[in-house]
Amino acid sequence: MTAALTPAVSAARLGRLLGPEALERPAYRSLAGAIMALLADGRIASGTRLPSERELTTALGCSRTTVTSAYAVLTDRGYLTTRRGSGSIARIPGKAVAASRALSPAADLDPDAIDLTCAATRAPSGILDAYRSAVAELPAYLGDNGYAPVGLLELRTAIADRFRERGLPTNADQILVTSGAVAGLAIVTRALLRPRDRVVVENPTYPNALEALGRNTSRIITIPVDEEGHDLAEAERVLGNSGARAAYLIPDFHNPTGALLDNAGRERLAAALARARVRPVIDETITEVDLDGGPAAQPFGAFAPEAIILGSAAKAFWGGLRIGWIRVPRTLAASMLDARATLDLGAPILEQLVLTTLLRTHDGMPHDRRHELRSARDATAAALREHLPTARFTSPRGGLSLWVDLGDVNAGAVALAAGERGLLLAAGPRFAPAGGFEHHIRMPYVADLASMTDAVTRLHGAITHVREMGRAGLAARLPHGFVA
Ligand SMILES: Cc1ncc(COP(=O)(O)O)c(C=O)c1O
Repeated sequence: MTAALTPAVSAARLGRLLGPEALERPAYRSLAGAIMALLADGRIASGTRLPSERELTTALGCSRTTVTSAYAVLTDRGYLTTRRGSGSIARIPGKAVAASRALSPAADLDPDAIDLTCAATRAPSGILDAYRSAVAELPAYLGDNGYAPVGLLELRTAIADRFRERGLPTNADQILVTSGAVAGLAIVTRALLRPRDRVVVENPTYPNALEALGRNTSRIITIPVDEEGHDLAEAERVLGNSGARAAYLIPDFHNPTGALLDNAGRERLAAALARARVRPVIDETITEVDLDGGPAAQPFGAFAPEAIILGSAAKAFWGGLRIGWIRVPRTLAASMLDARATLDLGAPILEQLVLTTLLRTHDGMPHDRRHELRSARDATAAALREHLPTARFTSPRGGLSLWVDLGDVNAGAVALAAGERGLLLAAGPRFAPAGGFEHHIRMPYVADLASMTDAVTRLHGAITHVREMGRAGLAARLPHGFVA
């Protein structure tokens, strides 16, 4: 990668990420450890260029010797390589899990590894039948050039019908079929946002959405959410002063907390967004993953007619379809289409036909998938209670993950130690644009029951290792392999 393309962290940003504890005495060791912890939990992606020693010295207001010695420790331990012309590149040494900021399943995975980086499951039974019937329909489409920039009318109609059934009248011409929800968000970002625009998101939130929103160019403002729900008073306060152009929100079984915003909350948040003239961008990827049922939440769009709504087949059906959609107010339809023209020009025809069949034959998520996910959630929760009795979490009504507070151990260090035990997990700070969640991990219950139980055992092993390693204080925050 050329120097110009290498991701970099500025001295000012690194200073903010490090915080005051990074200079506890002995300062150089604290600083080295704190940079390792940032790498471990993904707040600095592996492969990022660090600021020069001089820049960091100025930003931290410490002595040059402290920074020089800290960089020497990092180099010595394999966390830093310095080359003329490309500066000092920080990375996680060895074959450890890459800590890129977006979440994606690991490549070249050991067959015994359990990859819980992504909250996504295998295909539901019956999908092959949908493919067979799509193949039978395909000949009717082969005489055409195969580009469908807005999507097949049959699919857009099926999606619009589903919105209507949920209480949000929608026409097929308001639907743009995309290659998934994240691709949909990339289109919305292109159409709506300019560099340095302010964007409101929840803290924590889904990391890939942050990347799609261009977290390096947008100015991210956050509103708090936890498993109990959104802090609406704080949301109203933040929105009022935000001057933001858009707010990306996940009101249904929020990723990662699982929170479900109730109807009164939707009404209140929609009103606050309208007052502040902030455009809601609502991610409904997880909406159908309601495992227990309960009082129905109305679509957010029912309270906010100007909302842009993102949807996906990934969770209710299968990620491998790579099909999603955007529901847009009519005034925005043309700009969305323009924005997508140079991204992908359209989604594959066969998969659009498959999804049309699935939507026409299922009333939401297939029942066997709901049953499977519910069992996996309950088995994972039971295993956590047995093996990690001090961990705190709420079992959510829907969604695909448990958001687990591990208590006194650093989750980045645990994620690294878990990776070495063949369990890939994302630590809390990766979901935290405003920082925090150093003790949380996201535990998606997306593997089979035996693997989920095994995953909890490996997690327990990783936590025990980190605890043994760090007797107290700073050492507990350091990644595996670093003994302060
Ligand atoms: C909130 C949210 N949006 C989008 C996605 C990804 O959707 P897609 O695969 O359709 O791009 C996920 C996957 O975990 C998600 O949790």
